[in-house]
Amino acid sequence: MAMRRDEWLDLARKVDWAFSYVDEREVYPEVVSGRPWLSHEAWSAWTEPYRTTFGEYVETQHHKEVAVRAVREAVGRVEDFQHLDRAWLSALKLHDATLPLAEFAAVIGNLRAARFGRDSAWRNGSLLGALDELRHTQIPLLIAHELVRWDVQFDWAHKFYHSNNWVAIAARHVFDELLIASDPIEFAIATHFVLETGFTNLQFIGLSSMARGAGDRMFETMVKSIQTDEARHAQIGRAVLDIVMKHDPAYAQRVVDKWFWRQWHLFAVVTGFAMDYLTPLASRPSSFREFMHEWVLVQFERSLEDVGLARPWYWDEFVASIDVYHHMVYASAYTYRATVWFDLAMPSPDERAWLRDKYPATWDAIDPVWHRLDERWRVAGPDLEWYSHGTTPVGFCNLCQLVLSAGTPTKNSARVVDLDGRRHVFCSEPCQWIFEQDRARYAPHRDVVQRILGGLAPGNLLELLRTYFGLSEDMWGKDAARGRHPWLEGR
Ligand SMILES: [Fe+2]
Ligand SMILES: [Fe+2]
Ligand SMILES: [Zn+2]
Repeated sequence: MAMRRDEWLDLARKVDWAFSYVDEREVYPEVVSGRPWLSHEAWSAWTEPYRTTFGEYVETQHHKEVAVRAVREAVGRVEDFQHLDRAWLSALKLHDATLPLAEFAAVIGNLRAARFGRDSAWRNGSLLGALDELRHTQIPLLIAHELVRWDVQFDWAHKFYHSNNWVAIAARHVFDELLIASDPIEFAIATHFVLETGFTNLQFIGLSSMARGAGDRMFETMVKSIQTDEARHAQIGRAVLDIVMKHDPAYAQRVVDKWFWRQWHLFAVVTGFAMDYLTPLASRPSSFREFMHEWVLVQFERSLEDVGLARPWYWDEFVASIDVYHHMVYASAYTYRATVWFDLAMPSPDERAWLRDKYPATWDAIDPVWHRLDERWRVAGPDLEWYSHGTTPVGFCNLCQLVLSAGTPTKNSARVVDLDGRRHVFCSEPCQWIFEQDRARYAPHRDVVQRILGGLAPGNLLELLRTYFGLSEDMWGKDAARGRHPWLEGR
């Protein structure tokens, strides 16, 4: 008679043994396995709340694949996308570019943990995590591939991380370190605990409901299907963190503080743009700010407390930035829209009223930018993109590599710091703090402006777009309505 699952599962997931002719430190060197380095005894109680066997994994994943394929067959053709709102399509292009190859980098992070994680149950969980991330790479690439023949901007789903586009430089700067360079302990805390439990709930709850509202069932299905995997492998994070907290809580706190900020900036750009600007107004159940407060702040604070960690030291600055940061970057991106691979939408008067209502403390400082852009379009008329477009390259943060937009129109938060004979500019105090924690790692990296000054990239904007950012005129970002704004007509 076959054994029952609970009779054999522990035997199958816990397969550690004592090494007899080699030292444990040679099998799991600290430089690859991570710190704090502890003998296996300290890790042997490692356990995950939801256990999965390989057989169960394969069966569950098969059902998920069948479900995604059925939706793709029903609503995944070009014609199904052609009737979607133009601005929403930009939200898709933004996600389709930043997501799939970052998921592929996460395969590598999981595989390193599948070899160098310190307990066998953790290593098994990471192996399934690697298979998950391969799936998250393939699904969006498959969906976007169908769309390239209709709209060349979807080509960026694959092209993005292979380019020197400024957004790709910033995204690589975060993800290379997070997913490829970090050891399994830092990876578990930073990716599984901070990213997958801190931030991706918002994608699942918020963005998938917006996709439904926008009539995009394909995106809704994809995000939900991906999230069910994330929820399973994310549990590795807490299990690792609990053990690190016993032996080096100060290190755990530092890793959390560093990665929460680094991920926040990129997340605010990708999700903040989608939620407050690129989703049709009627399909927005809440603002980015409301989603952040409900799904990130409250929940993340609770999980920090559960583990025994404090809130990051910059918490007040972080909470304040939820009201303004993505608005600043969006206004910058709109005025430099030819530097990206998706179109940007002007907020209409109704949308500006909605934004004022949702951001009562900060919108009055942002709104004059859009008023000015309205005036520019009024004078220029449709199709004349350049009259509302910047011409000189802007400044970038030496840490996050995003535009220097962490302040407000009246308060410049940039920090200029001379370190080891070189001048560095940071968008914010946390970015400076992260840099100073590990100067040797970050200092040699050059941002876009330094590449221009160093002769590595052209200073002329058109040249920069074509030869360095990888954009041709047919694919670079334009106003989503090509300047045909109904509220300006007849005036
Ligand atoms: Fe993933
Ligand atoms: Fe993941
Ligand atoms: Zn920064």
